[in-house]
Amino acid sequence: MPLPYPDASSPHRHTGMPYIRPHGNPAVRLYVDAVIRQYGNPVIRIDGKPSIRKAVSMTLIVSIQNSKGGVAKTTTAMYLAAALEKNYSAEVWDADPQGTATEWAEICAELETPLPFQVHAANVATLRKRRTTADVVLIDTPPGSPDILNAATERADVVVIPTLAGAIELARVWPTLDALGSKPAIVLLTKVNRRTLSYRAARRVLEEEDVAVFDADIKSSEVLASQANAYPKKLFQYGDVALELMDLMKGTE
Ligand SMILES: Nc1ncnc2c1ncn2[C@@H]1O[C@H](COP(=O)(O)OP(=O)(O)O)[C@@H](O)[C@H]1O
Ligand SMILES: [Mg+2]
Repeated sequence: MPLPYPDASSPHRHTGMPYIRPHGNPAVRLYVDAVIRQYGNPVIRIDGKPSIRKAVSMTLIVSIQNSKGGVAKTTTAMYLAAALEKNYSAEVWDADPQGTATEWAEICAELETPLPFQVHAANVATLRKRRTTADVVLIDTPPGSPDILNAATERADVVVIPTLAGAIELARVWPTLDALGSKPAIVLLTKVNRRTLSYRAARRVLEEEDVAVFDADIKSSEVLASQANAYPKKLFQYGDVALELMDLMKGTE
């Protein structure tokens, strides 16, 4: 029976990739259906492998990637882990050789406010091989290092791409998306000021390009910035982002 997606064979305008790679495995179909139910967006490109593995392990692996620095990758990994930890067991794998997430966890431990989730340093080898019993893993990645980024992408079920709404930052989203091949990806707008023209333009362009975007976005916040390396007591808008991700996880059970 053909998959009920009219756009399944038409190429994506920007990447030239097929929107959805139809797959015969029912577990994969379930996952495709769940993603589409949640995001209704055909640019989510499904690679069969992670879904087949997920049917066995049930760990959702989320890689946080963007070839641009300073777009809140580490902040997103840490706050999403804190938000998800409320309902699931979460872990951060710190694949950035700069070790920002690891240092964040160390500082919290030294201040006797240990984070409610583990942060493990990761490299290409451990990204490929590390086993986990966590429900969800957030991989924090560096802006460069193609080997690390490829390993993180391969291991991930879904990639979250944090970006600012400015034209310069948005320009980096396209090559980041292109590098992902058929991996499902969702953009998260960060440091947002909703009243700006650039915010509205970014939402419009992403929609026009059929890119999946979280409904929730992360507001620009001096308070959030001042909380770097601190225990994430307040979740800002990351609670809403986690809810959207959780729905995705439920859909894959
Ligand atoms: N929503 C936000 N509003 C304001 N500043 C933020 C926000 N999110 C992150 N920042 C700050 O932006 C800087 C870069 O964030 P970081 O998570 O380290 O980015 P990356 O890992 O992509 O390089 C940090 O100083 C961080 O505290
Ligand atoms: Mg970082």
